[in-house]
Amino acid sequence: MAATVAMGINEPMSRKSVPEAEHFDKQEDAGSFDHAASYYGKHIEKLSAPLAVRIVEWADITQGQRVLDVGTGTGIAARCAARAVGGQGKAFGIDLSDGMLDAARYESDRQGLENIRFLKMDSEELGFPDHHFDAVISLCAVAHFPHLDVALREIRRSLRPGRKAVVAIGAGRPPWGSGLARYAIGRLVKMIQSAFQPQLWAPGAIMDFVDSREPELPTAIFAEWQKRDPYRRLCLAIQEAGFEIDGTGWTGHTPCFDSALDFWEAQISIVTAARQRLLHLGAKRLAVLRDEFVASAQRVLDRNGRLYYPFGAYFVRGRVPDRTLKFRSDGELSERPVRRQ
Ligand SMILES: C[S@@+](CC[C@H](N)C(=O)[O-])C[C@H]1O[C@@H](n2cnc3c(N)ncnc32)[C@H](O)[C@@H]1O
Repeated sequence: MAATVAMGINEPMSRKSVPEAEHFDKQEDAGSFDHAASYYGKHIEKLSAPLAVRIVEWADITQGQRVLDVGTGTGIAARCAARAVGGQGKAFGIDLSDGMLDAARYESDRQGLENIRFLKMDSEELGFPDHHFDAVISLCAVAHFPHLDVALREIRRSLRPGRKAVVAIGAGRPPWGSGLARYAIGRLVKMIQSAFQPQLWAPGAIMDFVDSREPELPTAIFAEWQKRDPYRRLCLAIQEAGFEIDGTGWTGHTPCFDSALDFWEAQISIVTAARQRLLHLGAKRLAVLRDEFVASAQRVLDRNGRLYYPFGAYFVRGRVPDRTLKFRSDGELSERPVRRQ
């Protein structure tokens, strides 16, 4: 395979390989994670550790608090939150995928974390009482929620007044602003280097490969809402759910893989379009494709080349107001503190 320099965004993707189908099934989507959980858990730390740290910092999580991670996956952000709340606090991670939850529990046990619990639950129907949490985080998961408005209202309901939710949506490069200029300069430098140093870039590397070998899926791979203008729509939805937005920002980086096999495993588990198109294949066909991809990536490494995986997310922080407006029987609006539980 020729060295590829493709614009790398992890999620969401607007590549031609993403079908325009309207149909998105959240159970099927979560099922695709079941098969990917072990590779996902093995590689997400390298890619997403700075994002997990950022989301916990931004949610102002402190010792003794009760925190919820929605769409926790293999639990990277929930574990970060568990460390931040300490022994007196508790972190909960919820997800629809049994495979991801099993991997989350296994890793948390391995790390000896006792103040963390993982539950199978739908983001659109959180089984917690009102005002139960001091902070809610959700890292790179909302693109999989078909009814974002419902999930955000649930998050708001479960949060105590005055407390914060931080929701991050995957974005391998900054969407705009000075961060984008810095990122573009960094990419330009690497593009110039590519004249004498072969490079493969995720997720373009895997998607070019998949596009040339496997047919497209007839179903949508992400929730409909995030196909166009996802960052603006996320901000609007957070406001409409009753939050005050008190910050937005981007965090990301471009790690390099020095193993061709790891580069394959990371992409087929984390890049949604690749996961959904490859992981349902029979073991034999998957092994053929793996060997072919890994051999081509290995040739890049053998020529002192680089395997890059840019990974980042756009973060929105919302705060539940301390006060609500009540419509009185005399037709006046009155401001009242929200009752605390
Ligand atoms: C891209 S992964 C992100 C996981 C994790 N937050 C991370 O940053 O690694 C998205 C996760 O959302 C979960 N998910 C999708 N739809 C969901 C829903 N309706 N309710 C709860 N979790 C859901 C998936 O099963 C998957 O584990």
